Amino acid sequence: MIFDTHAHYDDEVFNEDREELLANMSANGVGHIVSVGASPKTSKAALELAHKYDFIYAAIGTHPYDVEDLNEAEIQWLIDNAADPKVVAIGEMGLDYHYDEPSKELQEKWFRRQIEVAKQVNLPVIIHSRDAAEDTMKIIKETNLGECGGVIHCYSYSAEMAREYVDMGFYIGVGGVVTFKNGKKLKEVVRNISLDNIVIETDCPYLSPEPHRGERNDSTNLKYVVTQIADLKGVSEDEVIRVTEENAKKMYRI
Ligand code: NI
Repeated sequence: MIFDTHAHYDDEVFNEDREELLANMSANGVGHIVSVGASPKTSKAALELAHKYDFIYAAIGTHPYDVEDLNEAEIQWLIDNAADPKVVAIGEMGLDYHYDEPSKELQEKWFRRQIEVAKQVNLPVIIHSRDAAEDTMKIIKETNLGECGGVIHCYSYSAEMAREYVDMGFYIGVGGVVTFKNGKKLKEVVRNISLDNIVIETDCPYLSPEPHRGERNDSTNLKYVVTQIADLKGVSEDEVIRVTEENAKKMYRI
């Protein structure tokens, strides 16, 4: 069944129909979901969802946009809750230079601190990196983060760099962007790495694939991502679902 490795079901846009939506996942071929925290508050919400639903797991961590909310008490919360059996990764964390704020220095400080946490608690990581290819690679190499493993989520860089991440032990997160007309770069990445190194993700409610681009996204839309990957790799949709599910379980140690 489909494994959505990155979703944000705590988002308020799901408030109206969250229960109904999640109740229908299995009927729509979705077997597992990791709901990902992006701040101290949403990490707690992700963990609550994971406790409520058997098929949902949680990742806890803080996105570069929200590092101003971080402090050592919140880091301690991460460490304390990493042992929860439903917590499968630390993240999302990383660097995002798309806007000027928060400063690069502050982003780097908390990226490095969360890397220390992942190493301390021995969990894989979920890396968010946008417009920050060089610095992300530099920090990941310096900290030897490949030993934790995990995913470069919503991967947006070159095929060459993807292979470098794969060689270090990371998976490449592929979502709705691969279906976009302007998604050529990601299509190239999918063609150039093995299916064994790909996991699929919605990042919902964002990044809805074609033909639903611009609408609220949810895990049932991953079927369009599966079709696109099957097409690019010249394999069946069933094969894409089977291999990416296996990859996700291996990555999150489920
Ligand atoms: Ni996300």
